[in-house]
Amino acid sequence: MDIDAIRKAYRRYARRYDFYFGALLQPGRRAVIAHMRCRAGERILEVGVGTGLSLPLYPPHVQVTGIDISPEMLTRAKARRERERLRQVVALEQMDAEHMLFADDSFDKVVAMYVASVVPHPARLVDEMRRVCRPDGDLYVVNHFHHGGTLVGRLERRIAPLSRLMGFRPDLSCDDFIRDSRLEVIERIPVNLFGYWTLLRARNNKPAAGANDRHQTPRV
Ligand SMILES: C[S@@+](CC[C@H](N)C(=O)[O-])C[C@H]1O[C@@H](n2cnc3c(N)ncnc32)[C@H](O)[C@@H]1O
Repeated sequence: MDIDAIRKAYRRYARRYDFYFGALLQPGRRAVIAHMRCRAGERILEVGVGTGLSLPLYPPHVQVTGIDISPEMLTRAKARRERERLRQVVALEQMDAEHMLFADDSFDKVVAMYVASVVPHPARLVDEMRRVCRPDGDLYVVNHFHHGGTLVGRLERRIAPLSRLMGFRPDLSCDDFIRDSRLEVIERIPVNLFGYWTLLRARNNKPAAGANDRHQTPRV
């Protein structure tokens, strides 16, 4: 997977995306937002927001920023925001989730819905989510992961060489993803049809800014 292949795939998908992946993946989107237990005024970042299918699900008292690499997907998200008058959506920007332009600690909660197996470097995605989220904030990932050792898992391996064309990698292992990204997972919840997708709720385990300096300050 590389950024050009991803952009091309989602340029192709954009027009029909909601038809194929709207209702099918909506229970997972609902589950993430329910688990977020959003409080008034919280700043939420959704990376890979796509056509914005999740946006109407956020409560009106939060501030949601969405980013995506695909201009065609974002155009649809912006149209949805206007059409449905979603005042909680404060910004929709074209940006690479692996190299975000936001300052450290800009958000209280950061979420990636069906994005981890799309980006070229899933661990770098999580590093960036961690960086822009405040220490002790919450990170959420909902994704399809490889079903190793099952018939479905064998099929996923067989179609893996088509990843560039499909715009996602069907054989990303959940355990590898958690290990490589050093996510501090608090809960793993099966979601969507047959529980075939997984919601990961994690704590942002980065140290607070200056915490290391404090430790190093010699006592007098
Ligand atoms: C499978 S779609 C999921 C869209 C949306 N989250 C949803 O729930 O339907 C994956 C999205 O991730 C976006 N994406 C892929 N790589 C990205 C990156 N590096 N930075 C930002 N967005 C990216 C794609 O353009 C696409 O809109």
